[in-house]
Amino acid sequence: MTLESPRRFLPMLNHVKGKRSAVTCALKCDNACAKDVCNTSNNSYMRDIVSAEYSRRNILGVGAVGALTLLLGANAVNQAPGAQAQGLSPAARAGGRLQFSAIAPVQASVDEFTVPKTYSWEPVIRWGDPLFRDTPDFDINNQTPESQADQFGYNNDYLDILPLDEKNTRAVLVANHEYTNENIMFPPSMDPATVRAIAKNAHGMSVVELERKAEGFPWKYVRGAKLNRRITMSTPFTLSGPAAGSDLVKTAADPEGRTVLGTLNNCAGGTTPWGTILSGEENFNGYFKVTAPTAAQRRYGLTNSNPGRGWHLDEQRFDASTEEYKNEPNRFGYIVELDPMDPTSTPVKHTAMGRFKHEGANVRVNADGRVVAYMGDDERFDYLYKFVSRDKYIEGNRAHNKTLMANGDLFVARFRGNSESEIDGSGAVPSDGAFDGSGEWIPLTRNGQSAVPGMTTEEVLVYTRLAADKVGPTKMDRPEDVEPNPVTGKIYVACTNNSNRGVGSNAPADEANPRTQNRDGHIVEITETNNDATAATFNWNLLMVCGDPAQGDVTYFSGYPVDQVSPISCPDNVAFDSAGNLWISTDGAPSGIGYNDGLFKVQLEGADRGKVEQFLSVPRDAETCGPVIHDQEGMVFVAVQHPGEDGTWGNNTSLFPYDGTPAPRPSVVQVFRGKNGNGLRK
Ligand code: FEO
Ligand code: CA
Ligand code: CA
Ligand code: CA
Repeated sequence: MTLESPRRFLPMLNHVKGKRSAVTCALKCDNACAKDVCNTSNNSYMRDIVSAEYSRRNILGVGAVGALTLLLGANAVNQAPGAQAQGLSPAARAGGRLQFSAIAPVQASVDEFTVPKTYSWEPVIRWGDPLFRDTPDFDINNQTPESQADQFGYNNDYLDILPLDEKNTRAVLVANHEYTNENIMFPPSMDPATVRAIAKNAHGMSVVELERKAEGFPWKYVRGAKLNRRITMSTPFTLSGPAAGSDLVKTAADPEGRTVLGTLNNCAGGTTPWGTILSGEENFNGYFKVTAPTAAQRRYGLTNSNPGRGWHLDEQRFDASTEEYKNEPNRFGYIVELDPMDPTSTPVKHTAMGRFKHEGANVRVNADGRVVAYMGDDERFDYLYKFVSRDKYIEGNRAHNKTLMANGDLFVARFRGNSESEIDGSGAVPSDGAFDGSGEWIPLTRNGQSAVPGMTTEEVLVYTRLAADKVGPTKMDRPEDVEPNPVTGKIYVACTNNSNRGVGSNAPADEANPRTQNRDGHIVEITETNNDATAATFNWNLLMVCGDPAQGDVTYFSGYPVDQVSPISCPDNVAFDSAGNLWISTDGAPSGIGYNDGLFKVQLEGADRGKVEQFLSVPRDAETCGPVIHDQEGMVFVAVQHPGEDGTWGNNTSLFPYDGTPAPRPSVVQVFRGKNGNGLRK
């Protein structure tokens, strides 16, 4: 082992301002923030015309649907197969069943995983853990492409844990593996072609069974269990929906345009009521070589540069400068659906849900049975979307429900503030006391056909960003996780940050994105008209404008006293506990407020609305991903992504999870009560 080793990928050390680590920027999103803003559309000129036009025609089939029937959908959302009923007393609802005293924020130089007093943590599964009986044990000095293909992948992001039995002692875990950090994964002496092959197999997704002795106690993963599965770049996916089979997705290897190998840069996701996982393909652009990018490619961040990972050296399809594979990038950037209960199933990429840098997708079953998926396009100045299924959810009919995301209509959001003239970019609350207003869902397809003049249905679904640019949606500050609250039906949008808001010719602050050079992000709360998820219009307000009040940041927490909240910056993933409290994980707090990223609980109702309490803090350079809140048994799960990101081999900044491996290992972590679990059972 050498003390100093060169980075395989050189970060652009000076470009990061109020953003995450430069290394993370390089590896995770191909330096998106250092490059020109992708969205140069000047859609504001069209806004009023388009808006008047669509407000007349934009009817989504809104029926007489009330709040009472919503609960059906909310229950369905909560009832993944085997899930328990959610009955809670009013007292328990107020704060949820997971009681804790907030931890103090942890300085960004500290390499520790921190949980509240009376709680403990341990990994469930780590990068490299073998999934099958004949898989080699993890050996960081002797990894092979074959061993990695059967081991847990790198940089876990989306996470869910679905119970498999009534006693809740068996479960299946699903995780995304978004990207790799070759600088700290491999000894510098390893040959580059082997590094590329292993790194490729460390992307994708994992499915793995868990077991334990009783509720509230930590899980162990089961090597060789029946449902265990790795999804890699070699796994075939079926394209579904109107763009499947179109000329835009055909390649030399797939002249039918219906089968894609692999999934890329899978970030967040959502679990459907029928127990499948929706996973977002995010920064796929960074993997493809392009020499003369078209306008459409540039809109997706594909630039004339050699991708650092060099996969095009080994597989021709990653060289999109060739005629044979010019469409290969068009086959990534979708929501993919994976059925973890059937290890032989072919996962699907849903073209009807549009192609962009998908953070994730979270669904709500509407009162009329249609399924609505909410989705963010995580790039500065990109948009918020929703998908409304054509067909209806049928309780218990999994085969049918697994087809729901293949057909339906796609909408993009426009926000109107009611105090726009007062928005000056400072983050000061308008005189009506709120950042708030109304909004509309502008259709990109109607009855499954293009609703965008001049674009075919296939073009709308493959070049969704360009279609949206034409209809005047609101440019948002990197909308990441978007998730409906299963208790109230309100939708929460994590806008993580946007250092370019209001800078130069970029869009200025508006009431929904009220800060110039938004370093710390904010959370939007949306209420659909009549609480109907298929509604054409909505009301909205900001739940919070993040930052550290103690450092003088201009913040807003729905009126909750700013001196009584945990500092929070760069909200990314969201989740809910059984009482409907919001939980937020962060990505980028170290460069924003100087603390390690963490997981925070926020109350949404009553006198404590806006109260932010930090539950845990992740190790140095890490991001908190995939929160899962099982408050009824006193447990919380997170995916710890890119610990020690800024280190190099032999010169690491983190050794999480502190198991003796001479490098950090991204891991799924479980937090439980007491020393061994269930210590404070009530
Ligand atoms: Fe992979 Fe939008 O974070
Ligand atoms: Ca207002
Ligand atoms: Ca994310
Ligand atoms: Ca989530």
